Amino acid sequence: MTRLSHDDLGEGPAVVLLHGFPLDRSMWRAQIDRLSSTYRVIAPDLPGHGESPVLGVTPTMESMAEAVVALLDSLGIAEPVVLGGLSMGGYVALAALANHPGRFRALMLLDTRATADTPEAAANRESLARKVEEAGDARLVADAMRPKLFAPSTIEQAPELVESTVSVMSRAPAAGVAGALRAMASRPDRTKTLRDSGLPTLVLVGAEDVITPPDEMKAMANLLPIAQFQIIPGAGHLAPLERPDECNIAMLAFLDSLPGSGDQGAPGPCVPPSPGP
Ligand code: MLT
Repeated sequence: MTRLSHDDLGEGPAVVLLHGFPLDRSMWRAQIDRLSSTYRVIAPDLPGHGESPVLGVTPTMESMAEAVVALLDSLGIAEPVVLGGLSMGGYVALAALANHPGRFRALMLLDTRATADTPEAAANRESLARKVEEAGDARLVADAMRPKLFAPSTIEQAPELVESTVSVMSRAPAAGVAGALRAMASRPDRTKTLRDSGLPTLVLVGAEDVITPPDEMKAMANLLPIAQFQIIPGAGHLAPLERPDECNIAMLAFLDSLPGSGDQGAPGPCVPPSPGP
């Protein structure tokens, strides 16, 4: 298997960050910069995205997860890592957890869900995949997603961020985008895998995320034995890009609380999620 293009920065316990659809590892720049002061941060381009090649066969969340685990192997990382993923990255993370439970010691799930697509959502993805293949270009996906990705305040205050993100999406290889759409459409429900893993989990969501809304993510967090649920104000679906400082604080607090992290032995914030407002 061709090794995934990736960033690998910092020293310390390893943290892997998986990007959303159809983005690339550049979405984690602010997290890589901040977290790598105390952790080894590994952020790959998932197969068919960024600089990573398209998989030879129609991809699945599992085959993307295998590529991530193969990257860890190739980097000589055998000890369990913290695995984080945003949206599609979360789907890939849960596929990795299902097939390699011993490789992970905690999860960070951002703006994502554990459930499968509805039949309608899966059919829409297939139709979009065909259009992308016909056009040979991912721009129509970027245009379709654009209105749902950002909080109104991001659109108003950071138009350059919106444009640069949409531009990354538009440049994604058509074959990678079509493959990822089909892979997402065929993914199974991973709720049981997540719940039974018993891993400490940070569940983080933008307050104005309309793709994976806070209520849905809170319901997911409530199923988990050890979870920390946090809403990021002023963010939509791409919380780590829109509100990097707030996300970094939440992620670092979570990471530092884990046994085996820098702040070993300190009581952690991982408690069953509170009912909240
Ligand atoms: C993503 O951001 O990765 C996508 O919105 C995921 C999805 O379409 O389910």
